[in-house]
Amino acid sequence: MKLEHGARRALVTGASRGIGRQIARVLAEDGARVALHYGTQRAMAEESLALLPGTGHVLLQADLADEAQAAALAHRAAEALGGLDLVVNNAGIFIEHPVGQVDAATWAERWRHILAVNLMAPALIIHAARPYLAEAGGGHIVNIGSRGAFRGEPSAPAYGASKAGLHGLGQYMAQALAPDGIFVVNLAPGFVETEMAREALQGERGVATRAQSPLNRVARAEEIAETVRFVVSGRADWLTGGTIDLNGASYLRS
Ligand SMILES: NC(=O)c1ccc[n+]([C@@H]2O[C@H](COP(=O)([O-])OP(=O)(O)OC[C@H]3O[C@@H](n4cnc5c(N)ncnc54)[C@H](OP(=O)(O)O)[C@@H]3O)[C@@H](O)[C@H]2O)c1
Repeated sequence: MKLEHGARRALVTGASRGIGRQIARVLAEDGARVALHYGTQRAMAEESLALLPGTGHVLLQADLADEAQAAALAHRAAEALGGLDLVVNNAGIFIEHPVGQVDAATWAERWRHILAVNLMAPALIIHAARPYLAEAGGGHIVNIGSRGAFRGEPSAPAYGASKAGLHGLGQYMAQALAPDGIFVVNLAPGFVETEMAREALQGERGVATRAQSPLNRVARAEEIAETVRFVVSGRADWLTGGTIDLNGASYLRS
């Protein structure tokens, strides 16, 4: 268990907005130097960077749908930060593709694209990051999964499958990387107030979405980030291999 956090070096994917921005903020608050990855939104990534306390943070662009770019990202982060202690696989996409409403070519294209960003990229990033974390004497990997992996995503099955796969990846990596002192935890949020959930939170649909929780609301990105803060604090390493539900009791599983 490492409790010395002063100079931790963290890679957060998808840090240009939403949940990733808040995760980068809490890690920097706790003294980390952060590589903020973004895909297309450079200006928003710069806004995220401006929110971070401390110095030594960097911005890294990569299209995570591209295997070569995904595979290179952890190496670039380690080079920029002088090593890696912490990786948060947060970047993700949600695109609807109802089975009865899209043609076969679109169906196949959506599956390939969503699996590439939400599952293949984290697998490539973990493979590349492992030697750096091991060299640092251990560290943490957090995967931002989804309640959709359990509850079902009938209009976006590739999304649900990608997140179920991501949870599996995290579980298996927790076992494989424990000897290196690397702890791996999945978070499974329900709806969170971000751009990704914008349509589900509008109008009548928004009323129904909020009502899924007996608290009659959805999560704030800050609530997901605070959980990441705890998971990587060094005080919660027995969580490794686990998947934490963050859904306001909107979906219960045993
Ligand atoms: N919001 C929810 O209701 C909810 C619920 C459960 C789980 N989640 C999960 O939480 C994570 C963060 O979601 P969010 O709500 O913060 O989403 P968001 O606001 O839509 O942000 C998505 C982030 O992922 C990046 N990204 C997307 N596609 C990319 C690609 N091909 N290459 C590189 N970067 C890419 C985006 O980068 P650019 O903007 O720079 O392109 C952005 O930083 C995702 O994994 C999502 O599945 C979200």
